[in-house]
Amino acid sequence: MSDVITAVLDEVTETAPEIRAGLTGRREYQADENPSGEQMLAADVHADQLLEERILAVDGVGSYASEERDEIQEAEEDGDIHVACDPLDGSSNLKSNNVMGTIVAVYDEPLPAPGRALRAAAYVLYGPITNMVVARDDTVTEYVIDCETQNAPGTGIERRPVDGDVTLPSDPVVYGFGGRVPDWPDDFASYVRDIEQELKLRYGGAMIGDVSQVLEYGGVFAYPALESATNGKLRLQFEGNPIGYIIESAGGRSSDGSQSLLDVEPTELHQRVPVHIGNADLIERLETALSD
Ligand code: AHG
Ligand code: MN
Ligand code: MN
Repeated sequence: MSDVITAVLDEVTETAPEIRAGLTGRREYQADENPSGEQMLAADVHADQLLEERILAVDGVGSYASEERDEIQEAEEDGDIHVACDPLDGSSNLKSNNVMGTIVAVYDEPLPAPGRALRAAAYVLYGPITNMVVARDDTVTEYVIDCETQNAPGTGIERRPVDGDVTLPSDPVVYGFGGRVPDWPDDFASYVRDIEQELKLRYGGAMIGDVSQVLEYGGVFAYPALESATNGKLRLQFEGNPIGYIIESAGGRSSDGSQSLLDVEPTELHQRVPVHIGNADLIERLETALSD
């Protein structure tokens, strides 16, 4: 199974430069909506098509699912690995030319699966540098993908390790919370009032960019439950589970408000979940604030 996981991660590595190169000229919205009722950019569809084709072709992968598709795509051959992707996270940042990412969750159970069934999780961040952060076997590794040099025809696309043991810094520095302030429940709003006295605001509108800030500087990111949407905005299979797995593998904590994201019961493929991730003590304080 380990070589199947490596093969999936290699396909993501090889596809990242094409996703990045394909962003240009794909900023227009598509007619139809995704299963979460959100408009899709041509860039979302392009990334999803590339990833589905490559990942389903990996021997040992049994199915592929993405936030852009209603149904799970079964592989021709059976397989014990089931992959869930957010092909382009933060795609609304494309029009404003800000960072976006790709999120990959590698489960060893059919979807929808609990976070505890993850065998690996990764994200690619399309920033000034294209990096890839991979969590597997309780270790988080950061790689760089040199898209420019490696996009030349015939060059094998490789990820170059730059940090073999990514861990959350112990002194938190940044926070970023999604949703509108008037839409935050009172208990979450009171938690924010404490946090904003202590940390610096870093919120960029793409979860992967905001999670990368927390992973680099320490702190907390949340897209919380809202008065208007009690399960928040982010999806468990494609965003909450993989990011929770990465942050917990890096020594931090994740929470849906009362438990680790990895313990949230999966009920359907596109279920939403309140997402809170970051330094353990900040998440503990959050859970206390929401339990009062
Ligand atoms: P996606 O583009 O994959 O739908 O994800 C967007 C998500 C997430 O990346 C980000 O944290 C959040 O939407 C931002 O939401 P707001 O625009 O409401 O801030
Ligand atoms: Mn997303
Ligand atoms: Mn997306």
